[in-house]
Amino acid sequence: MFGHPPPAVARAIKAQAGRGLTYMLPNEAAHAAGRALTDSFGSFLWQVATTATDANRFALRVARAVTNRPKVLVFNGCYHGTVDDAMVCLDNGRTANRPGLVGQITDLSALATVVEFNDLAAVEAALATGEIAAVLTEPVMTNSCMVLPEPGFHAELRNLTRTHGALLIIDETHTQSTGHGGYTKTFGLDPDIFVIGKCVAGGLPTALWGLRPDLATRFATYNATRPPGHSGMGTTLSANPLQFAALLATLTQVATPTALAKMERGAQRLATGLSCAIAAHGAPWHVVRVGARVEFICAPGPLRNGFEAARAHAPEVEAVTHLALLNRGSLIAPFHNMMLVSPVTTRAQIDRLVANFHAVLGMLFSKD
Ligand SMILES: Cc1ncc(COP(=O)(O)O)c(C=O)c1O
Repeated sequence: MFGHPPPAVARAIKAQAGRGLTYMLPNEAAHAAGRALTDSFGSFLWQVATTATDANRFALRVARAVTNRPKVLVFNGCYHGTVDDAMVCLDNGRTANRPGLVGQITDLSALATVVEFNDLAAVEAALATGEIAAVLTEPVMTNSCMVLPEPGFHAELRNLTRTHGALLIIDETHTQSTGHGGYTKTFGLDPDIFVIGKCVAGGLPTALWGLRPDLATRFATYNATRPPGHSGMGTTLSANPLQFAALLATLTQVATPTALAKMERGAQRLATGLSCAIAAHGAPWHVVRVGARVEFICAPGPLRNGFEAARAHAPEVEAVTHLALLNRGSLIAPFHNMMLVSPVTTRAQIDRLVANFHAVLGMLFSKD
């Protein structure tokens, strides 16, 4: 999302590498990184992990600890990394293990409930059981094509979780593309736990999970009363000084409001170009954009949930489209039909991709 590699991040990593790769102790840079995280994303008490998968797992541990409830509520078609609990789907209206899970012999419906995105009645029914410790969701379902929240969805989700005593975990691992501060800041969401990863440190494996101060206090109370013992949270090489150096450089020099605004302008240009090509060829496709992230979907839209997103996938058409774009010199992410406009993406690159997309649609939808 920020280029390969952002020079400021490469410089910061190089400088720190000469001083130490890992200490297994915190260093001063943690303070500056914490402040930069709060400046960017809001008031949370931050913990560092190495992958967003781990950050989500630790967030769920906290949610279960403070609520003393067993289940996470996730949305059909979600992806939150290799978090076992979230590997569930809707099967005839019931929560079930996703098909094809290697070695998964546990019935995950003991740990999770799944409902469709944008279905607030189903969310409310699940919360009313009193079993849900937390709702874990992306603000936009970026891993199921790109399903946008319907107007009022997030506000009501927040109301419902509060009413029923469940926490709200917002996973911004992908939607940090929305703009400075991610979707949460841009659209005024109010999660209890904020999770972010991937490019947040410019590409150096780093993830964060942040607790709202009131939740941090609640967790501290729980922590002070639990029996002593290893909690199984945190990993040996997490919070190493390279992560802090890369994180600080990314937040203060790369993912700046100016850079994100520029990325969004580029993405707007790309989305408009792709939409015009789709209209020109009469293709039954559509385009969705979330800040610097653009996706074309080989089906009509808008899509409302994971079921509709799964039905919209056309694997053969998508594979042909990717290959035909590649043959014309445009390589897009090999899975998803997803594109990110980085601070160094040029107009010429965007226009070339749009022209190639035009040509590919001409081939696919030719009347001859
Ligand atoms: C929304 C979301 N959360 C978490 C993750 C997990 O990230 P990682 O692979 O770094 O563990 C992903 C990965 O694609 C993701 O899309």
